[in-house]
Amino acid sequence: MGNANEKEVPLMEKIVSLAKRRGFVFASSEIYGGFAGVYDYGPMGVELANNIKAQWWQRMVRERGDIFGLDSAIFMSPRIWEASGHVANFSDPLVECRTCHTRSRADHLLEDVGVLADEKMSVEEINKIFDENKAKIKCPKCGGKDFTEVKLFNLLVKSNLGDFSSEGNNPAYLRGETCQGIYVNYKNVLDTMHPKLPFGIAQTGKAFRNEITARQFIFRTREFEQMEMQYFTTPAEDMKEYEKLKEYCWSSLLDLGLKAENLRWHQHENLVFYAKEAYDIEYKFPFGWKELEGVHARGNYDLTQHSKGSGVSLDYFDQEKNEKFLPHIIESSVGVGRLFLAVLSDAYAEEEVEGPSTADGSVGVKEVRAVLHLPKALAPIKIAILPLSKKEELSAVAVPIFDTLKKQFACQYDETQSIGKRYRRQDEIGTPFCVTVDFDSLNDKAVTVRDRDTMKQERVAIVELPAYLKEKLQ
Ligand code: GAP
Repeated sequence: MGNANEKEVPLMEKIVSLAKRRGFVFASSEIYGGFAGVYDYGPMGVELANNIKAQWWQRMVRERGDIFGLDSAIFMSPRIWEASGHVANFSDPLVECRTCHTRSRADHLLEDVGVLADEKMSVEEINKIFDENKAKIKCPKCGGKDFTEVKLFNLLVKSNLGDFSSEGNNPAYLRGETCQGIYVNYKNVLDTMHPKLPFGIAQTGKAFRNEITARQFIFRTREFEQMEMQYFTTPAEDMKEYEKLKEYCWSSLLDLGLKAENLRWHQHENLVFYAKEAYDIEYKFPFGWKELEGVHARGNYDLTQHSKGSGVSLDYFDQEKNEKFLPHIIESSVGVGRLFLAVLSDAYAEEEVEGPSTADGSVGVKEVRAVLHLPKALAPIKIAILPLSKKEELSAVAVPIFDTLKKQFACQYDETQSIGKRYRRQDEIGTPFCVTVDFDSLNDKAVTVRDRDTMKQERVAIVELPAYLKEKLQ
């Protein structure tokens, strides 16, 4: 939009700018110059993220009956990460630019020049492909073409929790994925809730990875939140349940409001040795199709490893058949930050609208509004209460409306600046309804309700307002 000579701002830049400007996402430690790969969620961001998590929990736990919730601790015995294979194998291929010493992921540099380096490849294989394509590969920082050899870099983040020696030889790891907490609590859930197969365990929580290059805003960060569900089945039924889970995850994303045309399945070609099948749901982010959620059939690898590592049998006893076996696991795993970015990208729009009326009552000139057409259930603020001016007689009507509505809905009271500017602000945070109290309200005991999407305005009696909005927000 705008002057043809003006450079079009890429969508991603617009979303990042809105996220900062409107209090959704802040760079970490900003006043200290920032801290790479970590982001903070501001007043609007925490509401949106909480709504996303609440909807996931509703679908994955409350609406099921066969899936139990869990909140395992971030810190766990380091033996868990040895048994799971993370200490030995949870790594990404790293190269360093010899000119500016920037470290990059070798597979990402290859991807940038159109060459696919699969995450399951050995370091020798990646080095070979990297060498073959050296002429095309450039350092993303300085453009240099001289790189070190590709090395594997372990992503686990270490801490000295419980290690009081000065050497730090016994690190406790910050969890690299939340599902390990599920595997090691499988027996506890089995022994306390006594479920029959198939059943699942779900949890949301923080995970940490020493990502070599954290990039694309909140898409890939070093601290992030995951929502994971592990479903335990008999060996015979895992692929049938896998197909059902794939469908369930896909429809959950549609229920969350994501557009079907921005989602697609991607099958992993090169499976890890224990996996039976692996698909990702990809989202069309402003920077291209990328993984949003993984839905994987993992066989009995995880329970086998933790049974061996702990020395505790994790067998399931089928009373009817009088047999013991290790259940198979199918998993769904999605990052809150990635889903948050997908929701923002899907909702963001720029629309040409009529500007606010001028003081002499004539119609305003055309302008562009940025608006988040968020699903109502996800919007951080559902209703904004906007007295036309700061005059006391208006706040005497508007404040009691705010006090009533805020008990039922997330509301915001705003009396600063012109009403046009306040509408634009609410559009930018995706508020579905604005309630305007004007001087007529003093006489007719009614207010104007403006719909974010249609921008249509309706006069509603103040006494009927809670019921009117409740119906609209359902
Ligand atoms: N338990 C399986 C697992 O953790 P993953 O593919 O490594 O598998 C699952 O991660 C999901 O977690 C991804 O699809 C993505 O949504 C999210 N995720 C992974 N790494 C991330 C990172 N560094 N930053 C943000 N989200 C991430």
